Amino acid sequence: MSKPVILTGLRANNDLTIGNYFGAILPMIEMAERRAGEFQINMFVPDLHSFTTPIDHDRLLEQILQAGRMFVAAGLPLDHDDINLYRQSYVPAHSELTWILDCFTGVGEMGRMIEYKDKSAKLGDDRVSVGLFKYPILMAADILLYGAIYVPVGEDQRQHLEYARDISERMNTHFGELFTVPLPLEKQTEFFGKGQALRIMDLADPSKKMSKSDESGKGVIFLADNPDEAAKKIMSATTDDKASVNYNPIEQPGISNLLQILALLRGHPIDDVEAAYKGQSSYGDFKRMVADEVAGFLTAFQVKLADVDDNAVISAFERSEKIANEQANATLLKVQQAVGLRPRD
Ligand code: TRP
Repeated sequence: MSKPVILTGLRANNDLTIGNYFGAILPMIEMAERRAGEFQINMFVPDLHSFTTPIDHDRLLEQILQAGRMFVAAGLPLDHDDINLYRQSYVPAHSELTWILDCFTGVGEMGRMIEYKDKSAKLGDDRVSVGLFKYPILMAADILLYGAIYVPVGEDQRQHLEYARDISERMNTHFGELFTVPLPLEKQTEFFGKGQALRIMDLADPSKKMSKSDESGKGVIFLADNPDEAAKKIMSATTDDKASVNYNPIEQPGISNLLQILALLRGHPIDDVEAAYKGQSSYGDFKRMVADEVAGFLTAFQVKLADVDDNAVISAFERSEKIANEQANATLLKVQQAVGLRPRD
């Protein structure tokens, strides 16, 4: 593990949105292309995390492969020595380290995690799995096994990243230098730039973030959406009665969100896109144009996705899993030695 490690996971569930694409997948791939050589880049499919809430298990295998295809369709190079693409469950050390970290983590500490608090408040403790409760511990193991210092995650994962820092520092205090502590959040934001904080808002309710778990899905564009359906969602996006296109997320959140989406689709700065449409009074025409671009983007992405060679993805998985197992097992052994499960050399 000589090069510093950047690591991120992409959920296996088939529900990724354009928010995930522009906020997480694309920046990570651009980073991988730009910085590989200098960094080791680990992108993985957290398949063990995918059934902390109930899923259709007959579809899981396909969804894991689909997550791999998504990375490739978004442009991840598969032939670079510094870029690893692997499946979490193919590296058993993730599960083993999780158990050890479990035993140094307080029940109260996990109980304070917002994701768990929200779900248990809604459903009651008996309908929330222990897996969901412990989710952040597995996530910490994902990070610490490879000594990752940079972990680009969205707003909703910040608390989990904080926990990964806490538990690694706690173990280091207890047992000596075991883990590389991931960098604090401010350092991560500095490194990844503003794009990290980028948020695409819900089309129906632009006061909240576009989220895959939105119940109606009306305000959410999924990467798997039929392009015509997605265009309709844009056409019915909530706007305002000002009849003037401006980028002003506070006063005109709906229109600003459409400008933001347009800027991302075109890969142009928001200021340029605003300048091109500023003051336009027909929201119908403006929406039609954004709708066409969204439909065009989805069509092109879905063609790329369908063209990805499954065998190439599977061989990339297998090649990377060899490397990942070696690195992860080396870290796990150090921990096992420290806690007294294995003799020290
Ligand atoms: N929890 C992340 C999400 O829902 C996925 C994830 C799992 C992850 N393990 C990780 C992200 C480790 C970064 C690092 O998006």
